[in-house]
Amino acid sequence: MLTSIKTNEFAKSSSKQLAMMYFRVAIILFGAQLLMGLIAAIQFLVPGFLFELFDFSVARMVHINALVVWMLYAMIGSVYFMLEDETGVEGVGIGIGKLAFWVLTAAVTVVVLVFIFVQVGAGTEASIWFINEGREYLEAPRWADIGIVVVVLTFYWNVFATYMKGQKTGIMTVMVANLMALAGLYLAGMFFTDNISMDQFWWWWVIHLWVEATWEVFVGTLAAYALIKIINAKREIVEMWLWIEVLMLFGSGILGLGHHYFWIGTPEYWWEIGALFSALEPVPLVAMFVHVLYDWGKEQGAAHAEGKPGAVANNGPAIAWIVTNAFGNFLGAGVWGFFHTLPQVNIYTHGTQFTAAHGHLAFFGAYATILIGMMYMGVQYASGVKMLKSTFKSKMAIFLITFGVLGMTVALTIAGYEQVLIERAELGGGWQAFFTAQELPWYIQAQIWRTIMGVVTFVGFIYLVWDLVTIGKQAKTAEAAA
Ligand code: HEM
Ligand code: HEM
Ligand SMILES: [Fe+2]
Repeated sequence: MLTSIKTNEFAKSSSKQLAMMYFRVAIILFGAQLLMGLIAAIQFLVPGFLFELFDFSVARMVHINALVVWMLYAMIGSVYFMLEDETGVEGVGIGIGKLAFWVLTAAVTVVVLVFIFVQVGAGTEASIWFINEGREYLEAPRWADIGIVVVVLTFYWNVFATYMKGQKTGIMTVMVANLMALAGLYLAGMFFTDNISMDQFWWWWVIHLWVEATWEVFVGTLAAYALIKIINAKREIVEMWLWIEVLMLFGSGILGLGHHYFWIGTPEYWWEIGALFSALEPVPLVAMFVHVLYDWGKEQGAAHAEGKPGAVANNGPAIAWIVTNAFGNFLGAGVWGFFHTLPQVNIYTHGTQFTAAHGHLAFFGAYATILIGMMYMGVQYASGVKMLKSTFKSKMAIFLITFGVLGMTVALTIAGYEQVLIERAELGGGWQAFFTAQELPWYIQAQIWRTIMGVVTFVGFIYLVWDLVTIGKQAKTAEAAA
């Protein structure tokens, strides 16, 4: 991927070139995210590790902010990638889009350097403007916040203007409408109130309404597009599913927001609202799961009927990641989310390692997977091959990363279970109970396993980068020889 972008083979589409630029930065930030995660995981075991040099709070902060930013990069890349295919016209204003990319990347670099070297500031307005806004997942200082809004407006204009000029497929219509909601929600995380309950109230509008509503719809459109491209799925079928999912995702996801309002000082009616609607959230995730596997199975069946071996997918690694997405979204968001979403359960699990278990599997399963799949589609296009087959490296990457994240999830679930039993149920959830629970063997062993599985994930990541860089050229040579 890194080399293919330097060649001019796909000068045909500047929108797709821009997509590759976004993918490239995304994968670098993904690597940074994992390194920070490893530092934070070691600090659970050796609390003095890098103490006062690079504290846990800083490593954790960079870990989860890098996560959000690489995903947004890969999402923007994916939109630029599909834009011309879906609309059937040349992308509008891509030159300005490229400029916006450089501005954004320069800003992200400055923000990351400040996070790493300056880390924290005094409790003043100046810190909010120049160092860190202090809101979990969205810690960019205010100057960067405003810059991000400008860049996103440019991006949105590219997409909207191209959409208006070209054909209006169902996929693109959902994409354009959903992107407006997704970008608009960011504004809810840009202002401060002194009242912490009110602050959290709005902050969740970004976090929850992103990952459980707008981002889910977003990956629904990506899956629809990818299935058409890779296995030649019928547009009418995937689009029909997409509309159903949009309806269900917004139906449950929006009021499902209530599951974050149980204990932050909001009125008690949120208990019932949160319980009911968030418990319904797994339904659309099951539908998405069925959708991908149904289409995939149907195409396989059609191929078998024609006497073909069934390998109808023209991009092996991409389809493997997309099928993993269907499983991962269902498990991480649907099952692990449902576990703790009722207030009766959440009163015990709230903020334990169980939450972290769910956070890891959900972000990975629902988003990392499909975005990696889109990167493989980028590589296929950039190297101009009709067929991109999985290599040994592709298989090692998907196996080690998925196994590693699943392993971390299981370890954290065990740690969370122990916290619920000891810290919350037995010792009543006080200050001392918090520490006692973390000194017991189940907790410590679980943290050791999480770190080991984190290393496994990281090795998988190295295979992934290696594969993305080499697979295109390899496929091209093979195709030329055939
Ligand atoms: C892909 C979709 C999802 C992602 C990426 C995701 C991610 C996360 C993350 C990172 C947190 C921790 C937030 C924090 O730092 O406080 C969280 C909390 C939570 N999630 Fe999800 N989630 C998803 C879907 C769901 C679904 C579908 C449900 C319910 C069915 C759910 C239920 C919850 C609950 C109840 C909490 C609060 C945990 C606590 O009280 O500590 N999530 N989610
Ligand atoms: C090398 C692999 C990784 C390691 C060692 C690691 C480690 C960690 C650690 C130590 C924390 C802080 C947990 C806490 O505050 O209790 C954390 C938080 C988090 N990580 Fe990772 N991580 C890794 C990979 C990932 C991946 C692949 C994703 C998602 C795609 C991810 C998403 C998150 C999220 C969402 C949180 C916040 C969870 C919460 O607030 O509940 N991490 N990670
Ligand atoms: Fe939520």
